[in-house]
Amino acid sequence: MTHPSLAIILAAGKGTRMKSDLPKVMHRLAGAPLIAHALRAAQEAGSERSAVVVGPGMEDVGRAVTALDPKVQVFVQAVQLGTADAVMAAREALEDFKGHVLILYGDTPLLRPETIASVNGALSDGADLVVIGFETENPTGYGRLLLDERGGLAAIREEKDATDAERAVTLCNSGIMGFRSADTLLGLIVRIDNDNAKGEFYLTDAVALAHGNRFDARIIRSGAEEVLGVNSRAELAEAEAQMQLRLRGAIVADGATLIAPDTVFLSYDTRVGRDVLIEPHVVIGEGVTIEDGATVRAFSHIQGARIGPGATVGPFARLRPGTSLARNAHIGNFVEIKQAEIEEGAKVNHLTYIGDASVGAGANVGAGTITCNFDGFAKHRTEIGAGAFIGSNTALVAPVKIGEGAYIGSGSVISKDVAPGALALSRPPQEERPGWATRMKERWARAKAKTSGNKGT
Ligand code: UD1
Ligand code: CA
Repeated sequence: MTHPSLAIILAAGKGTRMKSDLPKVMHRLAGAPLIAHALRAAQEAGSERSAVVVGPGMEDVGRAVTALDPKVQVFVQAVQLGTADAVMAAREALEDFKGHVLILYGDTPLLRPETIASVNGALSDGADLVVIGFETENPTGYGRLLLDERGGLAAIREEKDATDAERAVTLCNSGIMGFRSADTLLGLIVRIDNDNAKGEFYLTDAVALAHGNRFDARIIRSGAEEVLGVNSRAELAEAEAQMQLRLRGAIVADGATLIAPDTVFLSYDTRVGRDVLIEPHVVIGEGVTIEDGATVRAFSHIQGARIGPGATVGPFARLRPGTSLARNAHIGNFVEIKQAEIEEGAKVNHLTYIGDASVGAGANVGAGTITCNFDGFAKHRTEIGAGAFIGSNTALVAPVKIGEGAYIGSGSVISKDVAPGALALSRPPQEERPGWATRMKERWARAKAKTSGNKGT
């Protein structure tokens, strides 16, 4: 039987160890704020209700959360008195809730939905309280899980309150806890005091109280990397590395080839199809889809773009938000594309900027072509018809339309629409002066002979 669950995500801590003006949970991991990872994991695990607890002055966290999901309730913990107090800040969400309550931390972004679901499973199975624990060789900073003589979970001891013997324990608290019901949680939490080294109300004290009540308190073990808490920039980088491993692993499992996986950076939402090849040193930002059979060559940077089936990009290409490449489109080296549709089989191969534009099927955009999309005040569109040929080093001054199959002479500045099938060119006619270069050379040679002759005598 499945029970509804409420996830309360704690994010009110100041995160002073980040040394940042930004609230800790707004720091990004694989393109999304830490808090978004926690929220998504809870939702993917099937939590039908979520609440986020933020600190005063953290309105942007509240806004970010409601932008992700308007149904999430945001609570403010007025003073950071500890994790138990933070849960109490969300009391209103608890009071009318019938179902499991999960406590997650906003700074633990690698937690998998499957692990959260296993907490739900244990609660459905009869546990009153569940803690996700992990073994680590370096437990510094974490609460330790203390067991009773029968091996049951007896208490969680925070590092600062631990004896030397307790500090030697390597089974740690991830921070993620589950309670059978809101009543179970509230019954325990109201008895928690702040008589400890930090003078805080520790949610972790709920475990010893539960043990005293002979509640069924269980541990579910996870890998240490999954519950890594981000408290500093160093830990943020560590979490990023773990997340990248996971994201790369997923696309490779789904049929993409990464020649040097460690050099390819993906975002939380990157979608990659089968038989996609990604060469080394590629950075992929948010909102990117790479469809089957496409190739991204080395040193490309891609954000907010769709790369259609069989398309090729790079090396050294930059695709900015709003780029859409249709099937078999070719984007070559030192090309930047923004807000533009490149239709099937069109080629933009060298040293080009295409912005606010459409390039029709089969069109060929020559080296050094620039869409002059910005006049200093507003952006304007360029439309290049199917099969058109844009000669090298052309400036297309938008707004402008190049008709289907039209031909633009190299080096042109095109500021008026060109009819389909026409040739347009705007460049000074070439002039030629017969013998000029030869005469010039002779003159230089005579001048040189004269000066060196003077020096010799
Ligand atoms: C906490 C746990 C510790 C565990 C570790 C795992 C407690 C007392 N300790 O320690 O057992 O091993 O996480 O990473 O729970 N928060 C609030 N309001 C507060 C205090 C904290 O919302 O008043 C939030 C923080 O934003 C953070 C989370 O609770 O998301 C944990 O707080 P933090 O200060 O990072 O706890 P740790 O010392 O890491
Ligand atoms: Ca922490």
